[in-house]
Amino acid sequence: MAKIEGFRVKNFRTLKDVTLGRLWNHQQAAPLTPMTAVIGKNGVGKSTLFDAFGFLADCLKSGVEEACDARGRGGFGKILSQGRKGPIEFEIYYKEDGNARPITYELAIDLDDTGRPYVLKERLRQRRRGQKHGWPFSFLILNSAKGVVWKGEQVGQQIDEDKSDFDISKLIEAIISDMTEQESKETEVVELEDRRKLGIATLGSLKQHPRISAFRRFIEGWYLSYFTPDAARSLPLAGPQKHLNIHGDNLGNVVQFMERDPRKRLQSILDRMAEKIPGIDKIDTEKTSDGRLLLRFNDKGFQDPFYAQQMSDGTLKVFAYLLLMEDPTPLPFLCIEEPENGLYHKLLESLAKEFREHATGRKGGSQVFITTHQPYFVDALEPDEVWILEKGHDGFSTIRRASDDAIVRNLAAEGLPLGGLWYSDYLDAR
Ligand SMILES: Nc1ncnc2c1ncn2[C@@H]1O[C@H](COP(=O)(O)OP(=O)(O)OP(=O)(O)O)[C@@H](O)[C@H]1O
Ligand SMILES: [Mg+2]
Repeated sequence: MAKIEGFRVKNFRTLKDVTLGRLWNHQQAAPLTPMTAVIGKNGVGKSTLFDAFGFLADCLKSGVEEACDARGRGGFGKILSQGRKGPIEFEIYYKEDGNARPITYELAIDLDDTGRPYVLKERLRQRRRGQKHGWPFSFLILNSAKGVVWKGEQVGQQIDEDKSDFDISKLIEAIISDMTEQESKETEVVELEDRRKLGIATLGSLKQHPRISAFRRFIEGWYLSYFTPDAARSLPLAGPQKHLNIHGDNLGNVVQFMERDPRKRLQSILDRMAEKIPGIDKIDTEKTSDGRLLLRFNDKGFQDPFYAQQMSDGTLKVFAYLLLMEDPTPLPFLCIEEPENGLYHKLLESLAKEFREHATGRKGGSQVFITTHQPYFVDALEPDEVWILEKGHDGFSTIRRASDDAIVRNLAAEGLPLGGLWYSDYLDAR
């Protein structure tokens, strides 16, 4: 399963420049763990970090201009860090699977002369087999919709493009004039029609670019939870669906899908629910005469079932999380904001453990990224899984890993739970 080892955000709201985990030029840092939790006071940028992932996924899906306006973001001017000129930049360092050589994706978005956001720069790069040092080889270079792409598994070009006067036309010329006959077969000069769309969206749909396609599929598979219990109470049209959607309004459809296969997975969810929420012993679906789907919960104490519309917020939420974790083809990356909201405090430690089990599972579960305010949740975590966001005097945020602090590491190693240390201010900056 693909995994993000590091992530860098620049000029995105309060995140002027933050890095989590390992990057190609930041190899001394430990990669992100399968489960990552971000903590911090109100207004430090947790939701912003969550939305950085959402923004990237939206850029891929609908182009950068729409993404700037989507989900109430308010346009480029509102998401650009105040007082900064731009561009807004992202870097993802990720591995397609455990043995793969990591790939770096870089994206820079800026305003064009007409004041509309466009893709200033996009890069994909990967080291050559056996290459330990130096610049990785780019296999996609795009500047303002023009660039070069290398087909298949070809190694591409090693370019020091930190220079601000980087001129794509000159680069293309240099690359082409320098090529052997074989290299010219593998190298393609491209120009995109729409400079507001990502190159990985267009080129990633072509078979001759398997690494770009894999990366595109990876981002398309990200699940950013916008679950609300009320959405889960809506009455969807009947019809089995494999994955829970981001709002959770197809909860019944997923149960319907599970009812078709041997009820083993549904039973396993019920067993796990029973440990957390007293009473529930059966969950199934009922189709109404107008083709809608009712989700039924049988409570041991009562003869008639309750419907989702009558169930408690927390019950629906736990059920949704368990469905995500029991997904037979788990999505590669799950982001959940404050999963603790509305849940009984003693459930949180076991929920955190279940997320971790899912993230590290042999079945190849999802990488999990969580923001939380809850020490009980953090109690179940290890110091290298916890990141602390703080706001500096300049109004911008910085991020630290709890394991960077030797005292925290030692106290945790002695068995003191991390949430308790947080509560007692040990995770605050010294
Ligand atoms: N363009 C911008 N430039 C700089 N800072 C910004 C910008 N837009 C918003 N902010 C700051 O970012 C903060 C929002 O952070 P965010 O919503 O991510 O916090 P949070 O950690 O999720 O907080 P909570 O725990 O309350 O949910 C705002 O309070 C504001 O100060
Ligand atoms: Mg928030």
